[in-house]
Amino acid sequence: MDVVIVPTPAEVGERAAEVTARLLRAAGSEAVLGVATGSSPLGLYAGLAERVRAGELDLSRASAFALDEYVGLPDGHPESYREVVRRTVTEPLGMDPARVHVPDGQAADLDAACVRYERAIAESGGVDVQIVGVGVNGHIGFNEPATSLASRTRVELLTDDTRRANSRFFASIDEVPRRAVTQGLGTILDARHVVLVATGSAKADAVTAVVEGPVGARRPGSVLQLHPEVTVVVDEEAAAGLELADYYCQMTDAREALLGD
Ligand code: F6R
Repeated sequence: MDVVIVPTPAEVGERAAEVTARLLRAAGSEAVLGVATGSSPLGLYAGLAERVRAGELDLSRASAFALDEYVGLPDGHPESYREVVRRTVTEPLGMDPARVHVPDGQAADLDAACVRYERAIAESGGVDVQIVGVGVNGHIGFNEPATSLASRTRVELLTDDTRRANSRFFASIDEVPRRAVTQGLGTILDARHVVLVATGSAKADAVTAVVEGPVGARRPGSVLQLHPEVTVVVDEEAAAGLELADYYCQMTDAREALLGD
């Protein structure tokens, strides 16, 4: 795991955008991007959008797959992830809406929709760069504690912690759906590279669990320790619990000096 610690949330966005843009360019014009919603990746998406505007990155033939979607929100609901992805990813990054996929949270047969989503990811050739945030309880995607580390796309019951955290996007917690369709941990591990972004002191415990373990279903994001290509970009507040923070900074310096990375 490459753990990059920067002073501020703005620098998290910029640094993560730099890493992601480099990986997307290397993947070619038909790169496949995995996208998280929520607050954490907004700076990263803004950084990618800047590069698209400047002509340094072209995502017009790239595809995207969202990590998750609430079950049961009606078409056009502003907090449905279909809408959030349209506003924060598809439009600002100049992507073709036909190539941007979000799980179907309204399907009459949700299990069949999950199988179709897995198939669509596989048929695209697989995700080149998966962006993830982490929940205060250590979830990635909506893989809540006790998720199988090998899980695939499925319907998940959201924890009270997650519904409380996400109630900031709704008029009240009662409006936050109780279920979501989410890519599984096994699905996320299939991505060729994972970029995790987190900011703020509320994420410090979760970041420590993800980076320094132990690996286990109590903190589902810790499964990323099993993936060989993960970049974690966090601000100092989110890194506050990392026992080996000094070492990660030395590794970042060494990588930059020796590898020009
Ligand atoms: C959203 C997702 C979630 C969020 C996590 C952090 O698509 O998959 O795992 O990344 O809940 O949310 P924020 O960034 O809003 O704190």
